[in-house]
Amino acid sequence: MAFDRSIKIAPSILSADFANFGAECQAIEAQGCDWVHVDVMDGHFVPNLTFGPATCAAIRPHIKGIMDVHLMIAPVDPYIEAFAASGADFITSHLEAGPHIHRTLQAIRASGAKAGLALNPGTGLADVKHLLDMVDLVCVMTVNPGFGGQKFIHSHVDKVRELRAMIGDRPIHIEIDGGVTPETAPLVAGAGADVLVAGSGVFKGGSVRNPAPYGENIRAIRAAAEAARA
Ligand code: DX5
Ligand code: ZN
Repeated sequence: MAFDRSIKIAPSILSADFANFGAECQAIEAQGCDWVHVDVMDGHFVPNLTFGPATCAAIRPHIKGIMDVHLMIAPVDPYIEAFAASGADFITSHLEAGPHIHRTLQAIRASGAKAGLALNPGTGLADVKHLLDMVDLVCVMTVNPGFGGQKFIHSHVDKVRELRAMIGDRPIHIEIDGGVTPETAPLVAGAGADVLVAGSGVFKGGSVRNPAPYGENIRAIRAAAEAARA
């Protein structure tokens, strides 16, 4: 996949109908999303449980584009091969998931996937500086990870701006995860983000039987973000 900084909308299937993941993935792609964001939670690193590599492998055939797997698990390393084998294009580990994040990022790249690095709101950018050669994506969490539908942390717009300056010309995506809406999307897009994850912001009002609201929500977030870039 070629790198570019155009705005990409990545609905999180954490807000989808869990009994209908295949149809939900097809619906959001048909309604114009760019990537599909898959939130893996272990009930240990975050206080919630979702699913693992078997579910990722099951939904993969229903996704034509990018499958972006966000691991909110600790440890990460024992599961990298399984997530890579499930067909993940990006595998994102939290910086806080263990003492050897550099090794984790190496292992993700060695698996053939693109390597993502996610930062909890309480984590600063100082440690990221030494990892920039190891990552294809930095995910700035704008809520505390674990649940959809939380409020966007506004103080993090400056963090995104600082990260964008730190990245310079390197081909690294800046992904925003948490509380993305047409109101908050322009703030982070203007600060330099290109991948906007949205769970409740995309799925609200729609369903697999009535997917048109997904498209309206995706277009509203995209238009607001692109306007901030103009
Ligand atoms: C939170 C997850 C997010 C979440 C975003 O831990 O990583 O991807 O689904 O949900 P919204 O967009 O509802 O804040
Ligand atoms: Zn996520």
